[in-house]
Amino acid sequence: MHKPILIIGACGQIGTELTIELRNKYGADNVIASDIREGNDSLMQSGPFELLDATNYAAIEDVVMHYDIDEIYLMAAMLSATAEKFPMRAWNLNMNSLFNVLNLAKDSKINKVFWPSSIAVFGPNTPKEGTPQSTIMEPSTVYGISKQSGERWCEYYFKKYGVDVRSVRYPGLISWKTMPGGGTTDYAVEIYHEALKNGHYESFLSKGTKLPMMYMDDAIRATINLMDSPAEQIKVRSSYNLGSMSFAPEDMAASIQKHIPDFKISYAPDFRQQIADSWPSSIDDSQAREQWGWEPRFDLDQTTEEMLKNLGN
Ligand SMILES: NC(=O)c1ccc[n+]([C@@H]2O[C@H](COP(=O)([O-])OP(=O)(O)OC[C@H]3O[C@@H](n4cnc5c(N)ncnc54)[C@H](O)[C@@H]3O)[C@@H](O)[C@H]2O)c1
Repeated sequence: MHKPILIIGACGQIGTELTIELRNKYGADNVIASDIREGNDSLMQSGPFELLDATNYAAIEDVVMHYDIDEIYLMAAMLSATAEKFPMRAWNLNMNSLFNVLNLAKDSKINKVFWPSSIAVFGPNTPKEGTPQSTIMEPSTVYGISKQSGERWCEYYFKKYGVDVRSVRYPGLISWKTMPGGGTTDYAVEIYHEALKNGHYESFLSKGTKLPMMYMDDAIRATINLMDSPAEQIKVRSSYNLGSMSFAPEDMAASIQKHIPDFKISYAPDFRQQIADSWPSSIDDSQAREQWGWEPRFDLDQTTEEMLKNLGN
C-alpha cells in the first residue's frame, strides 16, 4: 500500500485534479488535501481535507505527524500576473512554503517532495524556440525570480542533504474542472468559457504571442510519472523542461472555429503581454523524454474538443 500523501494548495487549478487522480490511484484516505480555503465539491467530498497555511512550518509538521505523511506535493504559490501586483507577498509565499517542505525532508520527516517550477524561470535573453533545459535564465518577473531561486534551492537540498525533490517546469495549463489562478496563460482557459457563453473573446495577449501550453490531463500524468520513477532515473534535480504544444491566441480561435464557426476573437493586450513576451515560445523537453519516458498526448485540436465537450455540458 502507498504511504500517505499531503497536497498543499490542493484547491487550485492543478491541485484539485492532482488530488482526485492520486486518490483514484492510491485510495482516498491516503491522500490528504490541504489549502487555506475550501475547494470545490468534487475535491471536498472525495477524501480528507485540512485547513493549512503553507508558510506555517509548525502547522505543516503537525499534519505530517498526525497522518504519518511520506510525500508532499507543494502546489501553493502566487502566480505570475498576481505576483506582479504583490511582489513581497509572492516572494514570502513562494519561497517560505518551499523551505518549509524542503526542511521537513531534510530532517527525514517526509521522504519525497514534488514542487512545480514554470516556464517563467526563463527571461527575455533566453533562446525563444526550442528552449533548452540548460540555457540563459534571467527571469524578469517576481514569479520567475521566485521559481528560479526555488529551482536552485531544490538542487542544493538534493546535493547537500540528499533530499528526494522532483520538479517540472509546467507550461500554461488548460483545464475545465477548475479556473486558473492568476497566471499569464489564463486566456487559454477563459477563451473556451467565453466562446460557449458569448461567441466572442477579447484576448489580453496580442495576436502572434506563441507560448508553450499543455492540457491538464497531460500535466497530471507527467507529475505522477515523475514521482513514480526510480530515483536513479531522475538526473535533473532543479526542474525538468516539459513540453507539449505551442500556439498563439489566433491558433486557439481557429481551433474553436472548427466547432463554433461564428466565434470571433479580438485583442486588447494588458500588462500580461510584457510577461508573455519574456517567456519561451517552445520547449526542448528531450531530457524528460529520455530519462523518465515523458510523452504528451493532447494537441490543440484534441484539447479544444475536450474543453468544449466538458464545458458545454
Ligand atoms: N496553472 C499553470 O498554468 C501553472 C504553470 C506553471 C506552474 N504552475 C505552478 O503550479 C503550482 C499550482 O498552480 P495552480 O495553477 O494550481 O495555482 P492556483 O492559484 O490555481 O492554486 C494555488 C492554491 O494555493 C492556495 N494557497 C495560496 N496561499 C496559500 C497558503 N499560504 N497556504 C496554503 N495554500 C495556499 C490557493 O488557495 C490555491 O488553492 C504553483 O506552484 C504554480 O506556480 C502553474
